Amino acid sequence: MIKAIMFDTRQYDKEFFVGECEKNSVKLKTIEAKLNEDTVELAKGYECVIVFVNDDVNGTVIERLAEGGTKLIALRCAGYNNVDVKAAFGKIHIVRVPAYSPEAVAEHAMALLLTSVRKIHKSFIRTRDFNFTLNGLVGFNLHGKTAGVVGTGKIGKRFIDICRGFGMRVIAYDPFPDTSAGIEYVTLDSLFRESDVISLHCPLTKDTKHLINERSIGTMKDGVVIVNTSRGALIESEALIEGIKKKKIGGACLDVYEEESDLFFEDLSGEIVEDDVMARLLTLPNVIVTSHQGFLTDEALSNIASVTVRNIVRFFGEGVTENEICYLCENVGECRKDRKKRCF
Ligand code: NAI
Repeated sequence: MIKAIMFDTRQYDKEFFVGECEKNSVKLKTIEAKLNEDTVELAKGYECVIVFVNDDVNGTVIERLAEGGTKLIALRCAGYNNVDVKAAFGKIHIVRVPAYSPEAVAEHAMALLLTSVRKIHKSFIRTRDFNFTLNGLVGFNLHGKTAGVVGTGKIGKRFIDICRGFGMRVIAYDPFPDTSAGIEYVTLDSLFRESDVISLHCPLTKDTKHLINERSIGTMKDGVVIVNTSRGALIESEALIEGIKKKKIGGACLDVYEEESDLFFEDLSGEIVEDDVMARLLTLPNVIVTSHQGFLTDEALSNIASVTVRNIVRFFGEGVTENEICYLCENVGECRKDRKKRCF
């Protein structure tokens, strides 16, 4: 039996993972704590560690996992900016779930956008209080507006399809454009200048960190609505707040937040939250925050569990997995998987 420990486990994870592990002879231990330098000891003796977006898999954590006998880190998500892939190279293999339901995230992005532009978040609260007035609820049509999509991978493309269904003009920026997809690509500067709505669907890298900053916000249309379902650090939060205060930004829809690891997935309703930036964002009537729930559908959770467990079983059973990642694949563009079946 393969011994695996899953960090940052929630009830909905258990519902999908426990059965999948039982079917595949994986002995699963679930814990609620996030993986970090303080909790890494709990993984001692587990050959596989299953992690999520806010586990901190830095170089020290990797070192200690390797000392404790861990051979595989299985990410139950697509993004891996929270893992020091370079530190792991040669020590611990890393697998991920590259796509589990791009539709889930794209639909959530549109749900946030519609909520924002039609002020559903305000009317929902009003009508609960038997306040049926309409003052302050005037929105705008998406039809005929321009959506700027940053990153045209799996999720970006689904979002583009949805926007087109609404009769929007879509422009996009991607350093690796898919020329066969019938997408109108423009420069990032043009996208910022021309879009009524900007939706971020690119990964977090050193090039994309704080892509939305004081300078880029300054070039945008007045009243632009920004949607971020990718990674929080794509947006410099203080610059976003300033842009909203100056009425440059008409709405911000955030499913992710730069400092989310201290907040998201926890019930802090009885606590004094120390994050003043989030506290300020939540006071603004045109900011909508969801706590990284773009992926949270039955379909996506089921795919995440089955692909993660299949990655684990194939790695330990057949010594191969198509979903391995390493820093060479990412930075050097040199993939060794074909030759050696594993990244190292
Ligand atoms: P993908 O890998 O299919 O597409 C990413 C696209 O971004 C690629 O076309 C790539 O060329 C492009 N890109 C790379 N560097 C860029 C840059 N500097 N500027 C603009 N585009 C750039 O990834 P996928 O599946 O579409 O996911 C996109 C992002 O969504 C992920 O990186 C992840 O951060 C986020 N995500 C969020 C979830 C949520 O629950 N909110 C769930 C799953 C993913």
